[in-house]
Amino acid sequence: MAIDERFLDELMNRLDMVDVVGRYCKLEKRGNRWWGCCPFHNEKTPSFTVDPEKKMFYCFGCKEGGGIISFVEKTEKLEFPDAVSLLARMVGMDVPTDEREKSIYKRRTRLLALNKEAARFFHSNLEKEISAPARDYMARRQISRKMVIRFGLGYAPDQWDGLIKAMVAKGFDKGELLDAGLAVKSEKGHIYDRFRNRLIFPIIDVSGNVLGFGGRVLDDSLPKYLNSPESYVYHKANHLFAMNLAKNSTAPQFILAEGYMDVLMLHQAGFDNAVASLGTALTPEQADLIKKRKGEVVVAYDSDEAGQKATERAIELLRARDIKIKILKMKGAKDPDEYIKKYGSDAFRLLLSGSENSSDYRLEKIRAKYDITDDEQKLAFLNEAITLVSTFKNSIEVEIYIGKLAEITGIRRETIEGEVKKSLKRQRRQNERREMRENTNPEKNAQPSFTRIRYQNVTLARAAEGILSLLAHNPELKGLVEERIKPEDLGEEALIHLYGEICAAIDNGIYPNPDTMTDKLTADERKLLAMILANTPDGSPKLLVLDYLGVVAMESAKSKAKVDAKGLEELIAMKRNDTRYGNGRNGSNE
Ligand code: CTP
Ligand code: MN
Repeated sequence: MAIDERFLDELMNRLDMVDVVGRYCKLEKRGNRWWGCCPFHNEKTPSFTVDPEKKMFYCFGCKEGGGIISFVEKTEKLEFPDAVSLLARMVGMDVPTDEREKSIYKRRTRLLALNKEAARFFHSNLEKEISAPARDYMARRQISRKMVIRFGLGYAPDQWDGLIKAMVAKGFDKGELLDAGLAVKSEKGHIYDRFRNRLIFPIIDVSGNVLGFGGRVLDDSLPKYLNSPESYVYHKANHLFAMNLAKNSTAPQFILAEGYMDVLMLHQAGFDNAVASLGTALTPEQADLIKKRKGEVVVAYDSDEAGQKATERAIELLRARDIKIKILKMKGAKDPDEYIKKYGSDAFRLLLSGSENSSDYRLEKIRAKYDITDDEQKLAFLNEAITLVSTFKNSIEVEIYIGKLAEITGIRRETIEGEVKKSLKRQRRQNERREMRENTNPEKNAQPSFTRIRYQNVTLARAAEGILSLLAHNPELKGLVEERIKPEDLGEEALIHLYGEICAAIDNGIYPNPDTMTDKLTADERKLLAMILANTPDGSPKLLVLDYLGVVAMESAKSKAKVDAKGLEELIAMKRNDTRYGNGRNGSNE
């Protein structure tokens, strides 16, 4: 039986040659071609090539060559129709057996052609005057011209039938526009454009077919995004946004994000391996798509609660397929787009190579110490590893590592989970005890640890703080203080500085407000001043200040004495080595 030509055409369209051949031999991209070791003859250096554009293969060694179907015929040793069925199954198509199905393939081909034309229309609008709002919007979001072209972005004009008119002129009918989800029908039967006054993101599959569109509003109105509905050609569960680009990345993993904007910004920042599941929870089909191409994925979903829930679901699906997972923790930003804009692409790169990795690394280091085939050592390994895992801050990370430990040791997850919980409790108790000790340690407590300032002499500094606070609130004490101490008696540089500024404020008849002293004090000094002002000791200011002045006098005398004593020691040492005094090594013989 001859196979319908349109069906074959559609099949060819959907198949990705690199993908199919990649199942039989490892391919590497060089220039426009992919190279690998030939599956038809024995070789160690690659002379077998695939041209994904033409969907042809050729071996420079054994001269074998042909199209995708003959490749499968040869490798699987199949007859033509069976090779076709096998290929059709790979992309979820059935070989047509009757007229009805034939007409469905015909429809699909038409819809793909329509979508492609629509994408061209949206994109070409960007050249026109009417797209000014979209261009402004893209500028505001810092989307580069290069990305506009790479992603084929476009603009749907603020009209009811801009697209309809353009497509009808190209020979498509309104029924087809409705089928493709590009037009909608009102209750009264009016047919109008679905996408109006929106920035357009085409959704493109790995073979370059335009399956549908996402359209973003240019302001804060709702809904933020409109998407193409399911159609003959678009089943959103089966695709990942930007996989058409990311599949060519040489990176060892995919970055999985939630949204259009995230993927766009990631690519713009140089992460050409980013894809998005477009706001839905990851589907099994999407997880399969990832698995087919790379064994590793970094999940970079939004940091809000919905994103974290979606992450958990994604982990399950990916883990079930044995895909290596890393979870990105984006602190201070809601999604990758925001993160990159706030901290830059280098910061994101660090994030990528960071945390999870270091957990792996730490676990591996522990593992290397033990021979886990030995029961006793396995137990020791587990104890140490559990202590490590229970220090992880992220509960998802803890989950993952409990799984890893279960896998490594062959011990039940639940058992390990119980031990991790116990270890967590133990550590919490230890932390509490340590905090308690620290809080009751006067030396530590007296340090202004909320700044980078560290006091040398805590007793002196405490008294100086008291003086400064009393002085600021009781300017009349200024004469008394100046009479008894010199600024340098306060010992600490920061406190000496504050003393000078407080005195200056008093002279000017103002209150030393830390907020208004930005040009006079460092940020740390201002923080310290605020703390000092907030902690005025209770009691008679004059009596208190006299007390503190006494402490300062005594402490500064002590430290002076220390300096003097040090000077004396130096003097003695110098004399000992100086021959002029007659007690040096040479002088003793005189
Ligand atoms: N989404 C959608 N419909 C909405 C909101 C979101 O289809 N009304 C999908 C889109 O695919 C979107 C993704 O969910 O890209 C993630 O949503 P969100 O984080 O809100 O959007 P961003 O992609 O971050 O876009 P932007 O930064 O422009 O807000
Ligand atoms: Mn966003």
